[in-house]
Amino acid sequence: WGGFGHQTIAWIAQSYLLPATETAIRDALDSQLVDYMANASTWADSYRYTESGKFSRPFHYIDANDDPPTTCSVDYERDCGDDGCSVSAIVNYTSILSDSDSSPPLRKDAARFLIHFIGDLHQPLHDEALEGGGNGINVTYDGDETNLHHIWDTEIVEQLAAGASAEAFAKNLTVSIKAGEFDWDSTTWVKGASLNMTLATVMTWAREANGYVCTEVLKGGVDAVEEGDLSGKYYGAHFDVARVQLARAGFRLGAWLNLIVTGKMG
Ligand code: ADE
Ligand code: ZN
Ligand code: ZN
Repeated sequence: WGGFGHQTIAWIAQSYLLPATETAIRDALDSQLVDYMANASTWADSYRYTESGKFSRPFHYIDANDDPPTTCSVDYERDCGDDGCSVSAIVNYTSILSDSDSSPPLRKDAARFLIHFIGDLHQPLHDEALEGGGNGINVTYDGDETNLHHIWDTEIVEQLAAGASAEAFAKNLTVSIKAGEFDWDSTTWVKGASLNMTLATVMTWAREANGYVCTEVLKGGVDAVEEGDLSGKYYGAHFDVARVQLARAGFRLGAWLNLIVTGKMG
C-alpha cells in the first residue's frame, strides 16, 4: 500500500490496542505522538531505499509463482526466496518483539517493520509474482497512465476515502467492523492466530490475499484490465476487496500486537 493505506491500517490497529500494548509499543517506538502507530507505519518504505536498509526490500511482498488468473496459491518453500519475504519477515520480527532480551534499537525496528509488513501482506498484489506484483501491467486510472500495482496500493484506497484523512477513514472502517458489516463476526479474522504457529498464521493471511488475485484483481485476465479506465467499472466492481483487506489488516495488526505484548488478542 501507499502511505495513506498504511496510515489507515495503523489507525484501525491503534483503536484495538489494549492499554498494556499501547504502553509497550510506545516504548518500543520511543514515541509520545498521538499518532504513534500511523507515524511509524511508513518508515519501512523509505528505509528500503537506503544503503543500510537494502536488505529489507524483499520483505514487502511474497512473490507467489502461481498461475493467475487460472490458479492462485502461495507456497512458502517455493515463493519466499533466499533473501526472505514478507512472511519470513513477519515471523522474524514477531519473535524479536516478543523477546524481552531484544535491545531497544532491535525492538524499535521490529515494531515499525511489523506495523508496515502486516499491512503490505493484505494488499493482494503483494502476494503475487506476475509482472512484479502487477507493476508491469499498464493501466489507465482517472485519465492517468499508471500500473495495476499502483492503483491497488494507492488510487483505489484514495477514491474509497473520498478526501477524508487516514484517521477519519480508519474510524469509518472501524465502525463498520464493530457493526459486523464485513462478516458475521470479525473474530473469525484472527481465528487460529497463534504465536506458537506464526508461520501458519501468516501463511493463512497471505493465501487469503493471494486468492483475490484470481477472483477479483485479474478477473478476466491481464488483457481485460489493460483496457479502458479502471476508475469506473473496475473500481466499482473491486473497491470492496480493498476495503475489507484494509479492515482485516488493521484488526489483525492490533490483535497481533496484543498477543505479542499480553498473550491475549484483545
Ligand atoms: N516487486 C517484485 N514483486 C513485487 C510485489 N509482489 N509487490 C511489490 N513489489 C514487488
Ligand atoms: Zn505496493
Ligand atoms: Zn511496503
